[in-house]
Order: sequence, then structure tokens, then C-alpha cells
Amino acid sequence: MYIKDLQTPALIVDQAIMYENIEQMRLILEDTDMELRPHYKSHKCADLAHMQMTYGAKGMTCAKLSEAEDLVDCGIADILIANQVVQPEKIRRLADLAGKCRLSVCVDDAQNIIALSDAAVQADSIIHCLVEYEIGMQRCGVTKKEDVLYLAQLIEAKPNLVFDGIQAYAGHVSHMVSEAQRRQQTLKNQGKLLDLLEYLRQNEVEVKVISGGSTGTSEIKAEENLYTELQAGSYLLMDSTYAQLGLPFENALFILSTVVSVRDDLAVIDCGVKTCGLDQGMPEPLDFDVAQIVASEEHLQLHSPTKKLCVGDKVWLIPAHCCSTVNLYDKMYLFDEDEQVVDRLMITGRGMGR
Ligand SMILES: Cc1ncc(COP(=O)(O)O)c(C=O)c1O
Repeated sequence: MYIKDLQTPALIVDQAIMYENIEQMRLILEDTDMELRPHYKSHKCADLAHMQMTYGAKGMTCAKLSEAEDLVDCGIADILIANQVVQPEKIRRLADLAGKCRLSVCVDDAQNIIALSDAAVQADSIIHCLVEYEIGMQRCGVTKKEDVLYLAQLIEAKPNLVFDGIQAYAGHVSHMVSEAQRRQQTLKNQGKLLDLLEYLRQNEVEVKVISGGSTGTSEIKAEENLYTELQAGSYLLMDSTYAQLGLPFENALFILSTVVSVRDDLAVIDCGVKTCGLDQGMPEPLDFDVAQIVASEEHLQLHSPTKKLCVGDKVWLIPAHCCSTVNLYDKMYLFDEDEQVVDRLMITGRGMGR
């Protein structure tokens, strides 16, 4: 079967580009001490997680407990939930899951640490903890090094918990279009982090893991060679937002859609808010320019003065955000250089937001 024969909208992936992105990431990391812990949220596909492990990833990162459960269910043995898990029912689930894999979770609160320890004792499991250090994104984490020390020592004192180290994720830097700006900001964060590490060393706290980084900062982080793990996710499939940064990764992910109605310079396609993640903007047609795109639930209205489309024509779209787009589909189709479908992969973590 060829891509053009798929019913639309369909999520399609250029297999060769995806493998080339894996190779580019290998080259970036090859002379560093940093290992890859790819973020699951960018594809949510068990088969691709296994492929990343086969090509050298140390384990997977995920955002949600349910994603971690999906990863354990498909046999991934080393997982980081790069988030805080605080509800009692979820803490129980997390402690059970920790009995089935090497599970790490981020913490930034003493009561949460105590609850995790109690649950791990109950479940007879070990939970690895990273104290989240807030490094400028203004999301989760503690900002003072004294607080990091206090939480690290609390983890060390609590049964069935292991203090592994720090998560310092600078998400506000990832998409800065200017490389100079990304570099400058990373350098600033490096100073803060080195200061923290020295303080922890003086207080005899051993930091084995420093986890963070993204697709946008992967090369800079590799040069910096301070983190032990890179949590990049989007590098594998990419999107039009990251394409602006001039990274060594190419776009592998497209939405195949069909023109369902045409009038004057307007073509309406069968892909809308429910089949394309719009949180980072409108998708871009692959091979023509549009003056304006308007989105509704099931449609995109493409206004193009130059491109004449007919009902039934196929339009390839590059999503602005791969992570929110894959979450809208049950499956993705891989295609080869002849645009033949070579595989269909289930997006097993789709919708796993709990
Ligand atoms: C905690 C965390 N780590 C890493 C990433 C990196 O993802 P990407 O490489 O797709 O920018 C994200 C993205 O949101 C994240 O939230």
C-alpha cells in the first residue's frame, strides 16, 4: 500500500529520516559522558521506545504515571517520571510499579518524599528520586540549594528511597530560535548548577544523576558535558517549531489530509483541532505556502493565492508540535523512499494523561 491510499487524516512518518535523526543524536552524544533518556511524550509509541533502547538509550523519560505504566507493560526496564506524583492513589500505583522496573521520580516537597517512602515500604519496592532544581523555567522544583540539600538528606534518611541526583530542566531555553541565546542561557544555568553541585559535595551528598536537556539544547548540552542524561524527545520525529532552530534533525512526521471542499482561493482539508496539535501554532503544508490558515474542530481552511487545489487532493502537513499531535492518534504509518507503507505502529501511550 502507498501513502496516497491511506484514509485521512493519517499520521505518517518518514522512516529513513527518523533513523537519520537517531544517528544524528548518536553523533552528538558519542564523545560525551551524557546518555540518552528520550522523552516518551514525543511519540508515545511502545515500538519506538524499544527502538530507541536498541539504538543505545539508557532508559525512557515520561511525564505521566500512566505513560510509565505503558512503558513497563511493553518491557522497558528503566524509567524516569520527570514530574511530581502527589495524589495518594497515584503514589500507591507508583510504588507498585517500582517493583516491576527501575523507577525514578522527581520530588520537590518533604511531605511527598515521606508519602513515597511509606508507599514503597508498603509495596516492598525501591523508588529512585531526583530532586528537581528550578533553573529558570518557573515550573516545578526548588530554587534554593539549601532546600535541595534538605530534600536530598531526607530521601537518604527514608527507607526504600534512593537519592540519585538532580533534575534541572530548562524548558524555557529549548525553543529559543537564536543559538547564541540558547548558549548564553545554558551557560548561565550551568553556573547555578555547578554552584549547587559544589554545595552538595561540601555537604557530602553524592549526585550520581543530573537529568534534563531537550532537543533544542542537545548539542549545547553535549559540549557542556555536565549532565549525565539527556531527556530530548522531539529529535526523533521533529516539528515545524523545532525546524526553525537549524538543528541537525529533519522533520519525519506529517499529517496526511485530503481536500474536501474548494472555493476561490480557499481549500478546506479534513484535519482540524482534533487531529493536529495546535498549541504551538498552525501546521505548515509541506510543499506550498499559505496566506492564512483557520482551524476548527474537523477542518483547516487553507487560503492560498498561488496553489490551486482540487477536491480529493492530498495535502501533507508538518505539525507545529509533534508531542501534542501524536497524542491525538491511535497509530502512525511508517513509509519508505517510494512512499510505500512499511509499518503501522500503535501509539500505545495515546491519551495517557494520568
Ligand atoms: C521534563 C522534560 N524533559 C525534556 C523535555 C524535552 O522535550 P523536547 O526534546 O521534545 O523539547 C520536555 C519537554 O517538554 C520536558 O518537559
